[in-house]
Amino acid sequence: HGTAKVNRLGHLEIGGVDTIELAEKYGTPLYVYDVALIRERARAFKRTFDNAGITAQVAYASKAFSTVAMVQLAAEENLSLDVVSGGELYTALAAGFPTERIHFHGNNKSREELVMAIENNVGCIVVDNFYELDMLKDICKEKNTVIKVLLRVTPGIEAHTHDYILTGQEDSKFGFDLQNGQADEAMKLCLDDKNIDVLGLHCHIGSQIFETTGFILAAQKIFEKLHQWKKDLSFDSTVLNLGGGFGIRYTDEDDPIPAAQYVEEIIAEVKKQASHYSMNMPEIWIEPGRSLVGDAGTTLYRIGSRKDVPNIRQYVAVDGGMSDNIRPALYQAKYEAILANRVMDKPEETVSIAGKCCESGDMLIWDLPLPRSGDQDLLAVFCTGAYGYSMANNYNRLPRPAVVFLENSKDTLVVRRETFEDMVKLDLPFKEKVKN
Ligand code: LLP
Repeated sequence: HGTAKVNRLGHLEIGGVDTIELAEKYGTPLYVYDVALIRERARAFKRTFDNAGITAQVAYASKAFSTVAMVQLAAEENLSLDVVSGGELYTALAAGFPTERIHFHGNNKSREELVMAIENNVGCIVVDNFYELDMLKDICKEKNTVIKVLLRVTPGIEAHTHDYILTGQEDSKFGFDLQNGQADEAMKLCLDDKNIDVLGLHCHIGSQIFETTGFILAAQKIFEKLHQWKKDLSFDSTVLNLGGGFGIRYTDEDDPIPAAQYVEEIIAEVKKQASHYSMNMPEIWIEPGRSLVGDAGTTLYRIGSRKDVPNIRQYVAVDGGMSDNIRPALYQAKYEAILANRVMDKPEETVSIAGKCCESGDMLIWDLPLPRSGDQDLLAVFCTGAYGYSMANNYNRLPRPAVVFLENSKDTLVVRRETFEDMVKLDLPFKEKVKN
C-alpha cells in the first residue's frame, strides 16, 4: 500500500527509494516513513469534514510519533496537534507549530507544564481533573489571562478492539466521570471563573478501534449531558472532541473501516443529536495518532543469528527488537514482514523473528513464512509508524535507530541514529576514572 512497491531488482521500494540502499546509507535498524501516505491519511480526514461542511479540527496525537520533522509535516497538512507533556510541547515549539492549534492533554500536568502551555498561548487545555483545574485557575488569575479549555469526561464506555462494554462504574484514571456528578461540578467551577473559557467536552474511548459504535454511544451520552447543561446552566457547547483511536490493519486479522467512514458516521450522529435536542451544531474535533502515521512507517532490520529448536521452532534474530518496537512484548501486537531484498522469493520456511535484547519475551513476530534467509538479508516489518519510535528505549544500551522520511524519490534523515557517546552523555562519574 502507499508508495511501497517492488522495483526491478526485486527490492522493496518506498517513496521511490530503494530500501536496500537506505539500509546501506543509514545502517539498521532503521525507521522509514512514506510521507505521501501520511499526507493522504491527513487529507482523507480533513476532506470528509469539508465535504460535510462541518467546522472541524483534526489534531494529530503526537504521542504516536513525535519529532520535529513529523510536527512540521502535521503543520504543513493544516492539522492541529495534541501534546501530552512538556516534552511534546517543546518539540512542537521547536518545530514552529502554530501554537493556537496545539491542544494540551494529560492526566497529571505539572504546574510548570501548565505555565509553559499558557505562556506559549496554546489553543486549548484539555482539563482532566479537579487538581489541575484548581492549578489552572490559580495560574490564570496570577497572570490575569483567559485560557480556553475542554473538559475531558469519561462517558462510561469502554471500547475494546471488537466489542464494547458499557460500564456503569467507569474505572479509568482519565477525566471527569460523566454519570456521578463530577463533570457537573467541574463545569460549574469553569463557568464561575472568568479566567476559564470552556469550549466544550472531550472524550477518548480507546485505541485501535474497528467500529463506530463506541464513538456513537459516547456522542449520545455527551449530548444528554449537554442538553441538561443547556437547561440548567445556560451552557452552549461550541466544541465536541471525540478523541482518536481509529484502527489500522497490522495483519489480515485486523479489519478496520476506512477513516472517512468513521468520520461520516460520527458527523451523522452529532447532527442527529444536535437536531434532536434543538442545539447548535458544535465543531467536531478528533485526535488520530495511529491512523495518520501507523501504516506509513516500516522498520528495516539486518538479519543475523539463527537457532533451530528441532521439530519446534526456528528462531531468526534481527539487530533490533523490543528496544525499537516494544508493542509485541507489551501488547502481543502482531506484524507482517518480508525480505526487503528478495520480495518476490517464495516462502520456504516458517520462522520466528527474535530481537537482540536479553529477554525471552523479546520476539517481534511469531511464525512468519519467509524464504530461507541469512545475514545478507534485510527484513522489513510493516506498520511500525505509530508507537514504535515514540516508545523506543535504550534497554541493553541499544542506541535508538535513525528515522528517514521518503517522498518523491528523496530520502531525508529526520532523526539521527543514537551513538554510544549519546548513551553515556547523561552519565556522571561516581569515582575518578578507574585505573587498570
Ligand atoms: N487522544 C487521546 C486522549 C489519547 O489518549 C490517544 C491515545 C489518542 C488521542 C490517539 O489514539 P490513536 O489514534 O493513536 O489510537 N501505546 C499504545 C497506544 C496508546 C494510546 C494512548 N492514547 C499502542 O502502541 O498501541
